[in-house]
Amino acid sequence: MDKEFTLSGFSLGEGVDSWNTITFLYNSALKKVRTKVEILNDEFQQVHQYNPIEYIKSRIKTPRSIVKKLKRYGYESSINNMVNYVNDIAGIRIVCSFTSDIYKLSEMLGKQNDLTVISVKDYIRHPKESGYKSYHMLVTVPVFLSEYTIDTKVEIQIRTMAMDFWASLEHKIYYKFEGNAPAYISRDLRECSDIVSMLDAKMLQLNEAIKEAKAAQEDDMM
Ligand code: GTP
Ligand code: MG
Repeated sequence: MDKEFTLSGFSLGEGVDSWNTITFLYNSALKKVRTKVEILNDEFQQVHQYNPIEYIKSRIKTPRSIVKKLKRYGYESSINNMVNYVNDIAGIRIVCSFTSDIYKLSEMLGKQNDLTVISVKDYIRHPKESGYKSYHMLVTVPVFLSEYTIDTKVEIQIRTMAMDFWASLEHKIYYKFEGNAPAYISRDLRECSDIVSMLDAKMLQLNEAIKEAKAAQEDDMM
């Protein structure tokens, strides 16, 4: 008999059908979170005449990476273990203009009624050893199906363009060396991460200065 498990009252066995159901569920959850974020961005545009988000990317983790992760955690590959232990099957990455936008956005997301925040990791205030910076939120959103409502996990990563630039390069290097990059490369990457923070701080300052100068100009014209 197929092993069975329950996902908030929703019963699934092992096999291709269950995998397809899982993919469908996580895709639906991603769509919901994406729309939510887009609406918040549009509202921001209405109220402040300014868009905090530069771009949004989302993806469903490939079965191969899911299995690799389960193996790394020491769990056998089953649909049950995937759903319970792999938190980033559905992932959305929100790339903002300024660091301050990241905190504004995460606060707005936290206030959404139908979104439950499971955990937060602030790698901006507490960067990783590698130099990695980003704000991570693990949330669940209810996916309303015809007969069930299923709370589905989505990993949200929020970062600035500069942080995203750093992370893409670091990711490539990490994979090139399979985690064994020469020490001077890791050191230089950490140094670049400091430069990213300086650039983000400087751009934020500059943006404030631009707003003030513009306001002063408008006052003069009155
Ligand atoms: P994973 O098992 O790697 O997912 O780590 P975790 O479950 O402890 O979660 P964590 O919040 O540390 O990282 C989740 C995701 O953040 C990863 O899948 C990457 O997308 C990103 N990430 C974390 N650390 C790094 C890093 O050092 N470099 C890069 N480029 N990305 C990272
Ligand atoms: Mg991950």
